[in-house]
Amino acid sequence: MRSLFLLFLLVSFNGFLFWGSEGRVPFACDPKNAITRGFKFCRVNVATHARVQDLIGRLTLQEKIRLLVNNAIAIPRLGIQGYEWWSEALHGVSNVGPGTKFGGAFPAATSFPQVISTAASFNQSLWNQIGRVVSDEARAMYNGGMAGLTYWSPNVNIFRDPRWGRGQETPGEDPVLAGKYAASYVHGLQGDGAGNRLKVAACCKHYTAYDLDNWNRIDRFHFNAMVSKQDLEETYNVPFKACVLDGKVASVMCSYNQVNGKPTCADPDLLRHTIRGQWRLNGYIVSDCDSVQVLHERQHYTKTPEEAVANSIRAGLDLDCGPYLAVYTEGAIRNKLLSEDDVNRALANLITVQMRLGMYDGDPSAHPYGRLGPKDVCTPAHQDLALQAARQSIVLLQNNGNALPLSPTRHRTVAVIGPNSDVTVTMIGNYAGVACGYTTPLQGITRYVRTIHQAGCVDVSCGGNQLFGAAEDAARQADATVLVMGLDQSIEAEARDRDGLFLPGLQQELVSRVALASNGPVVLVLMCGGPADVSFAKNDPKISAILWVGYPGQAGGAALAEVLFGTTNPGGRLPMTWYPHEYVTKVPMTTMDMRPNPATGYPGRTYRFYKGPVVFPFGYGLSYTRFTHTLAQAPKEVSLTRLQALTNSTITNQAMRLSHVDCNKAPELGFHIDVKNEGPMDGAHTLLVYSKPPSGKWSETKRLVGFHRVHVPSGSKERVKIGVHACDHLSVVDMFGIRRIPFGEHELHIGDVKHSLSVQQLN
Ligand SMILES: *[C@@H]1O[C@H](CO)[C@@H](O)[C@H](O)[C@H]1NC(C)=O
Ligand SMILES: *[C@@H]1O[C@H](CO)[C@@H](O)[C@H](O)[C@H]1NC(C)=O
Repeated sequence: MRSLFLLFLLVSFNGFLFWGSEGRVPFACDPKNAITRGFKFCRVNVATHARVQDLIGRLTLQEKIRLLVNNAIAIPRLGIQGYEWWSEALHGVSNVGPGTKFGGAFPAATSFPQVISTAASFNQSLWNQIGRVVSDEARAMYNGGMAGLTYWSPNVNIFRDPRWGRGQETPGEDPVLAGKYAASYVHGLQGDGAGNRLKVAACCKHYTAYDLDNWNRIDRFHFNAMVSKQDLEETYNVPFKACVLDGKVASVMCSYNQVNGKPTCADPDLLRHTIRGQWRLNGYIVSDCDSVQVLHERQHYTKTPEEAVANSIRAGLDLDCGPYLAVYTEGAIRNKLLSEDDVNRALANLITVQMRLGMYDGDPSAHPYGRLGPKDVCTPAHQDLALQAARQSIVLLQNNGNALPLSPTRHRTVAVIGPNSDVTVTMIGNYAGVACGYTTPLQGITRYVRTIHQAGCVDVSCGGNQLFGAAEDAARQADATVLVMGLDQSIEAEARDRDGLFLPGLQQELVSRVALASNGPVVLVLMCGGPADVSFAKNDPKISAILWVGYPGQAGGAALAEVLFGTTNPGGRLPMTWYPHEYVTKVPMTTMDMRPNPATGYPGRTYRFYKGPVVFPFGYGLSYTRFTHTLAQAPKEVSLTRLQALTNSTITNQAMRLSHVDCNKAPELGFHIDVKNEGPMDGAHTLLVYSKPPSGKWSETKRLVGFHRVHVPSGSKERVKIGVHACDHLSVVDMFGIRRIPFGEHELHIGDVKHSLSVQQLN
């Protein structure tokens, strides 16, 4: 018996437990086990809350403590297996976390474009659909014993500084865009939520103001982000709030860094008061891996490990990624820094999520997703969605003289050059898994025309010019030249921020020399997550076209070729500002302020506040066709009503506190916009709606409030309705972090169309 238990522990540690060929041993409540199936916590018709309390009531303190860590132990006497909480699915099921493995019947999973790329599609239904496919594959792998059900994705930190190595993982620099991405992807992953059930549990990370990894000898484990109340409410917390309130996410991860001198994982204001109190998280809060240890051992925030553990749990942390809580919680209770009730509260949050996932419902094959298996992974439909996503994500940055699309009949031979021209894993970026298969740029282009391939540089670092001559020769012989340049994980990655924004090594020289040598049109393709300063190419008359493909996923080369030859009309838009290199020489990565400071010459960050020169602006992207739009119908005014209970509160004549507005009585304002395709090709157009508060007192610039991607056939017109809600879209944040809606004329910008909307007080 004893040795069997030992074996169980060992096997469950690895996350693989099988009945043999019939299927998986249930995580808990095995119907074949006469003892455990009688437990109240196993009864599906009992209320979840009561089941959770029943289970907690059966656990010893020592058992409870060993359940507060990602590698949760088995409780054999209650028929509960061990569980590994850490799985990842940023843009496809990933093997970055120990909860997920590839092999056997599951050699691979569909690998979608990196998130910064899919963000460029500005297509919420695409994000949702990707989430649905990823969670199908995740459930299939869980059923096969290869994956968990708790995924620590997405990463919704604001891409604040262009050097950030993890900017590629995020939906970009705009809080509204990031919030919409978070909600759409999380909905896709977690399912429709019927009966509070979860398909898989997603997690929005890293809360909050975490967007520096390792720059100028300052790393994320020691960084203290100094963030104003205004920036926190207006920028850094917005995607997290949207993720919890709109996305109904089942988890939030706190970060490594400190915010204003406090480690986020031990800050009750950030965790207990904000996430759980104000946003009402229905789920669990997890630490970034070893954050609790980091706040004691590296930040020296507490005197003892027990204090670190107690402060974190009391601040609202429920789960530790790492062993720290398992080791020090008992001591913290013994030292009276923590009570068993505190532990029970954390445990209830964890077990509730497991119950919502169906982990205590017995036979897993009876679960609504219990029949998904190997046949549901890497299906043709899933792989086609990866291709669609890549198509929708590609951004056309320059197209002088309509050099693109190329024509397979006129450009019969194409020189394909560059260190990223025939890559596979580079295309899937970080937090990826094993892709079902790849189409490299070279393979994609070869489907259309004869190609001459030259790498030009050995790798993206491009340390030497030995291969330049052969690349120039190739360009000389071809009818057109495509250079696929950029970055990879050796340049931008987790724990690796960039020093500057230029293409690495001699890449720039290779591009210029090949361009000079080429006969036909030259197309520069940039494969990178963060932005690059490619002013040299913009200004080179020999370079006609520039495309940004981000990290386009397993089908990236196929989508790129379609765009090059005009089978697909590009419609992506940049989700972040492309700054000139000089910008980063003036701005320390450690400065969190969004607004410029004229006194110090600090230029501010992102399109909302930085008004200096750019290489390409946020929202930029061209098409092979020509779109125009006109405002067909738009309200001119909106009146705000005070909440009944607050009829005697004072209102300045300038603005009303958002928390005093009766938002149920503020109707959604419908803006109808006609989008006309006046060009020669069908295509997708993205409407970006910005608003600008009344000038003067708020010194605010325009910011995105809504967006909509619409497909319009050549020669036709589509009417798009965009809803603007005064409470959600017209408020500003004052320097105390308080949201207010200013009275007066707000301006809405939709492309070059401007519309004035008057906000007034009813009564
Ligand atoms: C309304 O006014 C009364 C009397 O001045 C005050 O006691 C009460 O707190 C006020 N209500 C609110 C919601 O401000
Ligand atoms: C948005 O994405 C979905 C899913 O791929 C696609 O069906 C739809 O056509 C896209 N919308 C536009 C306007 O491109």
